[in-house]
Amino acid sequence: MKTVYLIGSFTVRPPCRFLPSFGFRALKTGTLPGPCFDLQATRRFRAHSLGMDSLSFTAGNPMGFRISGPSFGGSKILSTPSSVSFSMDINQRCLLVIPSAIRNLSSSMETPVYDKNFERIYVQGGMNVKPLVIKRIEKDEDVAQAEEGCRVEVGEDKIHMEESISSKAEAISPKKRESRIEKEAWMLLEDAVVSYCGNPVGTVAANDPADKQPLNYDQVFIRDFVPSALAFLLKEEGEIVRNFLLHTLQLQSWEKTVDCYSPGQGLMPASFKVRTVPLDDNKTEEVLDPDFGESAIGRVAPVDSGLWWIILLRAYGKLTGDYALQERVDVQTGIKLILNLCLTDGFDMFPSLLVTDGSCMIDRRMGIHGHPLEIQALFYSALRCSREMLTVNDSSKNLVRAINNRLSALSFHIREYYWVDMKKINEIYRYKTEEYSTDATNKFNIYPEQIPFWLMDWFPENGGYLIGNLQPAHMDFRFFMLGNVWSIVSSLGTPKQNETILNLIEEKWDDLVGNMPLKICYPSLEYEDWRIITGSDPKNTPWSYHNGGSWPTLLWQFTLACIKMGRLELAERAVALAEKRLPLDRWPEYYDTRTGKFVGKQSRLYQTWTIAGFLTSKMLLENPEKASQLFWEEDYELLEICVCALNKTGRRKKCSRGAAKSQILV
Ligand code: GLC
Repeated sequence: MKTVYLIGSFTVRPPCRFLPSFGFRALKTGTLPGPCFDLQATRRFRAHSLGMDSLSFTAGNPMGFRISGPSFGGSKILSTPSSVSFSMDINQRCLLVIPSAIRNLSSSMETPVYDKNFERIYVQGGMNVKPLVIKRIEKDEDVAQAEEGCRVEVGEDKIHMEESISSKAEAISPKKRESRIEKEAWMLLEDAVVSYCGNPVGTVAANDPADKQPLNYDQVFIRDFVPSALAFLLKEEGEIVRNFLLHTLQLQSWEKTVDCYSPGQGLMPASFKVRTVPLDDNKTEEVLDPDFGESAIGRVAPVDSGLWWIILLRAYGKLTGDYALQERVDVQTGIKLILNLCLTDGFDMFPSLLVTDGSCMIDRRMGIHGHPLEIQALFYSALRCSREMLTVNDSSKNLVRAINNRLSALSFHIREYYWVDMKKINEIYRYKTEEYSTDATNKFNIYPEQIPFWLMDWFPENGGYLIGNLQPAHMDFRFFMLGNVWSIVSSLGTPKQNETILNLIEEKWDDLVGNMPLKICYPSLEYEDWRIITGSDPKNTPWSYHNGGSWPTLLWQFTLACIKMGRLELAERAVALAEKRLPLDRWPEYYDTRTGKFVGKQSRLYQTWTIAGFLTSKMLLENPEKASQLFWEEDYELLEICVCALNKTGRRKKCSRGAAKSQILV
């Protein structure tokens, strides 16, 4: 009988399990007993290497598991205890023995993936299908002892940490000594690090010891971790980022359900928490518990998580030189799953991504459902990252083609239809409506009455920006900072548009920066708009939180955009403002009022992405050459693709070579 082995190099010492979603517990006997599984949930084990989409163990039925995937002819429930057995090898590794009858359902073979510090997932021996071996590299005894008990290490050993932080920082930047504020920020950031089985895997969202009701701020948020990750990478500490990328990849395949409905397979969680669960014999183990929106306030879908994950994966490669990580089979599969979700055809007519309200940094109802700019900018970046990282072969070439087509269509769409400046507003002001034809000028049937009064007075002569959202008969004219700044970083905007956005921010400094960088959106929704659009949300009252609050975390993205556009002085001005107030105010999450004067009404203190955003901005300004690894220049090839695709349709469209070029020269 040919056999598939799933081998985890467990020691009998219980806590740290190599795959959180696998949910193993202590092994003491030759076969895996019932409690070997975490019975609280159906947990899914990532099994792409076997050609399975998943292999999951079912709560309440420890011997029941399900394999699904195209090579298995859909989903198969396998529940006879005799069909699967578990045993220990002489090294006390757990072996899952799957008989050939089951294994032969798969026809896929994957190349071995070798990896020093993380679990290995590779296929070994056999003919059609090689056995799958998952192996955790044994650690030396000291490390293993330190891991015993597997605690979440937040807030320990501050003094020691402070010393080690500053000595490391000096080693990296010998020219410059860290200021007292930077030292404090580093200490706080290190303090926010979350460990899983003794290894750093992320940072908590906020770490205020006085906060008695942390809600989910004690979790590691995917989007929040990005500035932390960049700070660590710029300091040449890659391990935490690597662990984060690999652990969240495991969570991607988690069996997730919201009221009996399973969201798409490539979804990345909004956040995760390391939980310590009790075992028999007064022992505990750690498990990673993700939230895909099923617990989140408002049950919002974290669309941006997967996009940030891809962006971070590329940044990790660029800043560490460790490109082997992105080449791993499981990582490549992770990228493809996210892209499949984003590129799936639906009913939509636009190349922009259609999402529900609150699916990004603004994770509450704020009227940003449809095609919000932030998501489009992140989507565009993630597509550009994927194009760089995907291994091109027969199985990926169609995907790469789809990425290229989408990139060019998306950039044309945003540059053409989201852009507003004085000239464009004047055009809209004189729009004819109810046009029926393929070459209508007012394609989305925008009624000029929609142009808000504030905008007419506010617009500076030489400024412009990308609007927040576009739908039939609806332009959301609010200025959203993250989407605009990230459009600069990713070159979603034309070079001229990017420059003009920064001009606008400079001209409207008091409104968009004021006392604290930077306004999340401008202006706020007030009166009836607030009541109807936010659903009377008391957290999102005018000029508070997402509704026109000021978020210091946006500083790093702004800094990156300024460095790209050669406007360092703007970034330095903003960083200086933040530096003056953040430590005094205890690093708040957000500020309130029109000019960002007050610490936000319900703002958390010691908010990690505030701290990390500040540090990252500082380091980017000191290392512009490293910053240049994190942004993208105009891609002229994409403009060519745009031309080809449209020519084939045989229809006359505005998107011709000339139109595309004229966009660059605006
Ligand atoms: C709030 C923010 C969200 C952030 C989370 C954790 O919900 O809106 O963007 O990820 O807090 O900091």
